[in-house]
Amino acid sequence: MKVLDAKFVQGFIRMCNDGWLQGWHERNGGNLSYRIKEEEIAEIKDELKEDADWQEIGTTVPKLAGEYFLVTGSGKYFRNVILDPEDSLSIIELDESGSKYRILWGMVNGGRPTSELPSHLMNHEVKMIASGGKHRVIYHAHTTNTIALTFVLPLEDEVFTRELWEMATECPVVFPSGIGVVGWMVPGGRDIAVATSELMKQYDVAIWAHHGMFCSGEDFDLTFGLMHTVEKSAEILVKVLSMGSKKLQTITPDEFRALAKDFKVDLPEKFLYEK
Ligand code: 13P
Ligand code: ZN
Repeated sequence: MKVLDAKFVQGFIRMCNDGWLQGWHERNGGNLSYRIKEEEIAEIKDELKEDADWQEIGTTVPKLAGEYFLVTGSGKYFRNVILDPEDSLSIIELDESGSKYRILWGMVNGGRPTSELPSHLMNHEVKMIASGGKHRVIYHAHTTNTIALTFVLPLEDEVFTRELWEMATECPVVFPSGIGVVGWMVPGGRDIAVATSELMKQYDVAIWAHHGMFCSGEDFDLTFGLMHTVEKSAEILVKVLSMGSKKLQTITPDEFRALAKDFKVDLPEKFLYEK
């Protein structure tokens, strides 16, 4: 099968374009990666080339040794992915130590995978273990309203989670484990990857102050839907804060507890503090 005909590749391209249409990917902002299933690699193996050099990832992910990923390229624009996926994307393989990768397909005009590859792979490793292998998608986007909130809310997991839960009744059901927040750090390296993946041990969402968001999920729908839900909630909060007056009413801790009971989700008590 041709790589571009594979269902996971088409789903990946669609997700890139959906993110572009949301306005989350100015210029080359944001990046996406997918951990490819064994049977999906088998389907396209005739088109994969094994002659590229091994390159340093910039961190080590031993549990992902030998895994394959579809990733966006560094400096590539999400708006171009749908027009020329072979220029914007690559399929990479990790070596047996989990410290190197090589390109097997794509990036036909040169280039390398996203500069956030260390964050993507460290998050994949943590989420693969935490989800028993179910999570396959890591998505980074420059979500406008969530970024705006990092200038006015304390950079604390408890505050971001509670404020965003309050903005839409579906939120605690969509991200019951909450949201982690990383203070401002230099992007693109191992340090921010370590900080983010530490939070991803307990959350599916991490916010990078003054930069954007990372989401993890089982498939493209769930991961895009998670990013979309958090960002929509942030948009409502921006509107509420912009109206200037204090909230006259909101969802209370006891109402969250009632929601948790009926929707059969665990909402950690640390987010249900009295204000
Ligand atoms: P890349 O173009 O290297 O993926 O970087 C974009 C970005 O959002 C960095 O955080
Ligand atoms: Zn970014």
